[in-house]
Amino acid sequence: MSLILPILLGLFILFGNERSSAQTNAQPLVLQPSLEKTEQIRAIAKPVAQKLLMTIRDELTRALAKGGPVDAISVCQIQAPKLTSEVRDRSRPAGTIFLLKRTSNLVRNPADAPDPAERQALQIYLEAESRHESLPPDLLQKVVSEGKTTYRYYQPIRVAALCLSCHGDPASLSPDVRAVLRERYPQDRAVGYKDGDFRGLVVVGLTLP
Ligand code: HEC
Repeated sequence: MSLILPILLGLFILFGNERSSAQTNAQPLVLQPSLEKTEQIRAIAKPVAQKLLMTIRDELTRALAKGGPVDAISVCQIQAPKLTSEVRDRSRPAGTIFLLKRTSNLVRNPADAPDPAERQALQIYLEAESRHESLPPDLLQKVVSEGKTTYRYYQPIRVAALCLSCHGDPASLSPDVRAVLRERYPQDRAVGYKDGDFRGLVVVGLTLP
């Protein structure tokens, strides 16, 4: 009898703790960075986010003019990995960029799906859009996950007329584009947009010294 209570207590502490630490592993803690860090993050990440958007837009414009939407389909895909390796080393020692991607609540490529921190950021933009408020020009997060602190910088991506040949109303896409998209992206959800719609976010992930 005298042993049962301590054993029960021990089991409770053991499993109680295990469950709560499993929860913190799954869900990162997303916080507001300090004012000082905010300035550092913006200085490093903003030019990178803008460069990614500009490069994709320029290359799309060029490819669409040259060969039409079917030829341009891969342009929307190739730039991020190339640019990521280009910028990764340049930001040291001020900070290190480990992530550069685009994400959305409606993705074409499942590899672009948002992680939990990105989902929170998307939620803020989607709510602002549904209330017809102007979207914040950028958003910053301090993300604590498994004892490690990293930072995220986000910029909104809007749909322009140029995007509609591949992201517009499915009925208005050319049959060729529709066929290629169906073949390469069977789970495509990134259609049905109109000029000016919120499309998603550029994500820059970085660590600071
Ligand atoms: C020629 C076709 C084409 C045009 C035009 C185009 N896209 Fe895309 N877009 C794609 C394809 C294909 C992907 C999937 C890329 C991949 O596999 O990584 C994609 C992916 C994206 C993604 C990443 C998230 C996701 O859904 O996977 C964003 C954001 C995006 N496009 C925004 C835009 C915007 C904004 C424009 C206009 C400036 C635009 N796209 C114009 C074909 C296009």
